[in-house]
Amino acid sequence: MITIKTVEEIKILRAGGKILADILHQVASHATSEVACEELNALSEKLIKQFGGEPSFKNYKTSDDRIPYPASLCVSVNNEVVHGIPDGKILREGDIVGLDLGMKYKGLYTDTAITIPIGNVSENARKIIDVAEKSLNIGIQAVKEGAYIGDIGFAIQNYVESHGFNVVRKLVGHGVGYGVHEEPEVPHYGKAGTGAQLKEGMILALEPMINDGGSDVVLDNDGWTWKTKDDLLSAHFEHTIAVTKTGAEILTKI
Ligand code: MF3
Ligand code: CO
Ligand code: CO
Repeated sequence: MITIKTVEEIKILRAGGKILADILHQVASHATSEVACEELNALSEKLIKQFGGEPSFKNYKTSDDRIPYPASLCVSVNNEVVHGIPDGKILREGDIVGLDLGMKYKGLYTDTAITIPIGNVSENARKIIDVAEKSLNIGIQAVKEGAYIGDIGFAIQNYVESHGFNVVRKLVGHGVGYGVHEEPEVPHYGKAGTGAQLKEGMILALEPMINDGGSDVVLDNDGWTWKTKDDLLSAHFEHTIAVTKTGAEILTKI
């Protein structure tokens, strides 16, 4: 079932989403050359608690047979697509780094991610970051009451492929709000006019993952980190949005 949030709930999601976005950007400003990924996780946790929220990824379980996610922030470097576990790994000039953060605030969940360059990066790295960020905005522009879930993926896929990159298919966006992941699944590829129809008050996390090479991803031995199959770069951006009568409201805006 796709849930509809009330105006009061959306008020809370808006407040939480703004705090979450501010925290993520503060964390991003600390993501510089020679910093360890675990330091960024510690900072995220500290800030979330300071603002009266709870980290929603920590100890998150997708099924009983998988180990719970051990951190509050996902840090995915270069060929890592999403859900990288922040450990002692040191960021280096030239890396691109995906930072994905989720928070429960006054009982409701928001989720947002960005990919940033560390110092000077290759032109290709700059380009994949740019295309990934724009693809998210293009997906958001396809949202409004009465549009279809498939319209979102269709718009994203067209844009991404026209720039020579590929959309990850194995991992998708999702409903969010009462939990970290809710129905519906929101593929970042597909056909216009297919899937569920959007209604005012639905809350979605759109999060295109864009690969330099093929779409395929493989799961690392750590049980969480998804990597590109061909070891080429990947970039990821995510916003939590509310469907409105005329479009979408971005809830995780700074
Ligand atoms: N942030 C991820 C998403 O966008 C979910 C992370 S769950 C975790 O859907 F356990 F991996 F952190
Ligand atoms: Co996320
Ligand atoms: Co998400």
